[in-house]
Amino acid sequence: MDVKSVGVIGAGQMGNGIAHVLAAAEYEVLLNDVSQDALDSAIATITGNLARQVSRGKITDEAMQAALGRISTTLELPQLGQTDLVIEAATEREAIKQAIFEDLQPHLLPHTILTSNTSSISITRLASRTDRPERFMGFHFMNPVPVMQLVELIRGIATDEETYKSCKTVVDRLGKTAASAEDFPAFIVNRILMPMINEAVYTLYEGVGSVQSIDQSMKLGANHPMGPLELADFIGLDTCLAIMNVLHDGLADTKYRPCPLLTKYVEAGWLGRKTERGFYDYRGEVPVPTR
Ligand SMILES: NC(=O)c1ccc[n+]([C@@H]2O[C@H](COP(=O)([O-])OP(=O)(O)OC[C@H]3O[C@@H](n4cnc5c(N)ncnc54)[C@H](O)[C@@H]3O)[C@@H](O)[C@H]2O)c1
Repeated sequence: MDVKSVGVIGAGQMGNGIAHVLAAAEYEVLLNDVSQDALDSAIATITGNLARQVSRGKITDEAMQAALGRISTTLELPQLGQTDLVIEAATEREAIKQAIFEDLQPHLLPHTILTSNTSSISITRLASRTDRPERFMGFHFMNPVPVMQLVELIRGIATDEETYKSCKTVVDRLGKTAASAEDFPAFIVNRILMPMINEAVYTLYEGVGSVQSIDQSMKLGANHPMGPLELADFIGLDTCLAIMNVLHDGLADTKYRPCPLLTKYVEAGWLGRKTERGFYDYRGEVPVPTR
């Protein structure tokens, strides 16, 4: 199927990035959220990010205006039923995602493909609650969307080949690279990345190294562009903990048990950059390790 229009549900940090790259690749985008503030700030973020691309000579001003012209916003979820492809990028809570798909279902065109940007929730389970599990799959962008090259395409147990091919064509047109993953907890990237971050927190918890020495070791010793604790702060410690819990529950293996220190940071509300405190304190001029 030739996808021309895309509905994006959730205008948060992922949804605005997804709308940005789709519009830049000449898709018509309808961006939805339950909050007008979220829609307004998404448009402001997209405008700022496109303007930065113009100032760096990556795109022209005409291309920026054309991309912005392809994005419409709405608080009305049913309107998204008229699009060819829906990418759900709302809050990572299964009940929210299920309610969205349930509310959208009566308004869908027969051919519309449904996808979710979920980092960890079972695609098969989300799909099973809809009328079209064969036209449902995981469409998992990385953060920040305009910068990161990879998109994981996750087939649920019922996803058909045509749906996969249609989504792969979209990824190709975005100039990104698709990695295909089966529907098991946390898919590929987070299955590997999160246990590494969790192990870094254990290394801190057991006193093997300080925040600074752990991050420096992985940057200079393993050539990682960011240290694991710095990266955890960037992702959000609540998100890291939620994904570790999904791995622990879904694979029932003690090797995935979340580090108690990670839990403690989340309980403190020290969630990383978004709350200005995590493994580093971001309230001053330069980030200062909190341990
Ligand atoms: N943050 C990341 O690094 C990352 C990476 C890949 C995937 N994801 C996934 O992307 C999704 C969104 O994450 P985010 O970081 O953008 O979250 P976010 O909190 O920045 O944004 C979520 C948005 O969803 C909106 N929302 C909530 N309920 C809604 C509803 N019923 N209908 C429409 N909109 C609704 C909220 O108002 C908010 O604007 C999650 O599933 C997350 O797991 C996140």
